[in-house]
Amino acid sequence: MEKLVIQGKCRLSGTVKASGSKNSALPLMAASLLCSSGEMNLSRIPDLKDIRTFSKLLDYLGAETSYRENTLNISTAGIRSVQAPYELVKQMRASIYVLGPLLARFGHASVSLPGGCAFGPRPIDLHLMAMEKLGASISIDKGFIEARTTGARLKGAAIDFPITSVGATGNALMAAVLAKGRTTIQNAAVEPEIVTLCHFLNAMGADIHGTGTTSLEIEGVATLNATAFTNIFDRIEAATLLAAGAITGSSITVTDVDPSQLSAVLGKFEEAGCTIISDTDAITLQSPDTLIRTDVIANPYPLFPTDMQAQWIALMTQAEGASHVIDKIYHERFNHIPELNRLGAHIEIRHNEATVHGPGKLTGTKVMSTDLRASASLVLAGLVAEDVTEVLRIYHLDRGYERIEQKLNSLGAAIKRESYQEFA
Ligand code: EPZ
Repeated sequence: MEKLVIQGKCRLSGTVKASGSKNSALPLMAASLLCSSGEMNLSRIPDLKDIRTFSKLLDYLGAETSYRENTLNISTAGIRSVQAPYELVKQMRASIYVLGPLLARFGHASVSLPGGCAFGPRPIDLHLMAMEKLGASISIDKGFIEARTTGARLKGAAIDFPITSVGATGNALMAAVLAKGRTTIQNAAVEPEIVTLCHFLNAMGADIHGTGTTSLEIEGVATLNATAFTNIFDRIEAATLLAAGAITGSSITVTDVDPSQLSAVLGKFEEAGCTIISDTDAITLQSPDTLIRTDVIANPYPLFPTDMQAQWIALMTQAEGASHVIDKIYHERFNHIPELNRLGAHIEIRHNEATVHGPGKLTGTKVMSTDLRASASLVLAGLVAEDVTEVLRIYHLDRGYERIEQKLNSLGAAIKRESYQEFA
């Protein structure tokens, strides 16, 4: 096992570059399955555990993938299986993204049900609803989703999502682009990751209209072509780095970003008293002497992202007064709170609302990561705590942050990565 050993009470300064987006790269990798010839060239792909897991899944299906210096080449001409095994899906729920492309290209997909998640129920009923609308027959057999087209191809249809789902929108899009006829998607997710997927699919020869809106129209095509494409920056990683600047009372700059994708988060930093200077592709955050208590409600894009909720709670432990944080997407996504309280924070949970009382004096100790964003909140708390904080089980962190300790150390932090033995 590995842990991060964080020397607290640090000040940060300087500039750091944002990595490519994990949550955009994964659907791009899945969409490559829609191509039956040529080689896909994806650049700005972050070097992360989840990217390696998805590459393993593509290789298992028969693709050829190669990764070097943030560039991923994928050839899916030789796909020989349509089954996504439990062992890989278990590691990463996003494996469900192969359902739509396999079904659209091969008329059959067999994908393991994802199983449980650390922060509560995450059903996939909307993914299955969309596939059925497009004409697939779906059954669950021995823990696998067995999806088959009834005719040669999926058929265009009207899909109306009752709630916004990033994953279900992505899967429906990737299935509809090769379906016969027109598909409309209402209440589609508008996250930058979905907008990027639309751009990518259109670059492969798809015919998607309404990109960036909640109403998408897709004219099915017969085939799609391999292409070269550059991934977007990781807006959650960039916001997490800015939060590191804010929690340590520092001034830092994150470059290679598109500030417009972070307006809800930047607005909250300003409400908390930070000064935000946005440039075309860079954001500078200057901290106030005292952070102001600031409430947030996590909701679908373009509102405040649930993937920044844990980091915001860590930040508000240093603000003057009580802040209220509600998560409207994952009601129980609060595993980080007992660990933050172990560092000396004073946070209460009632239903899906957390109340953070600040400013709290945090003192370093051992804390346990439970999921990706929870571990990021513990790293932030460790930067401002007295003494040394040890964040254990950082394999969670490595799933979504590319060399985060090196990036923070380049800004002046003192973080070491060490191995350790866990009690059996
Ligand atoms: C994506 O997950 C992200 N993952 C998540 O980031 C992120 O938290 C989430 O979107 C919300 O922004 C990736 O992009 C790989 P959803 P996804 O479908 O697609 C419910 C991270 O930290 N729902 O938009 O799984 C669901 O339970 C990860 O990087 C259904 O009820 O999220 C949730 O309450 C964690 N039925 C809501 O919709 C369905 O079939 C939104 O989920 C699907 C979803």
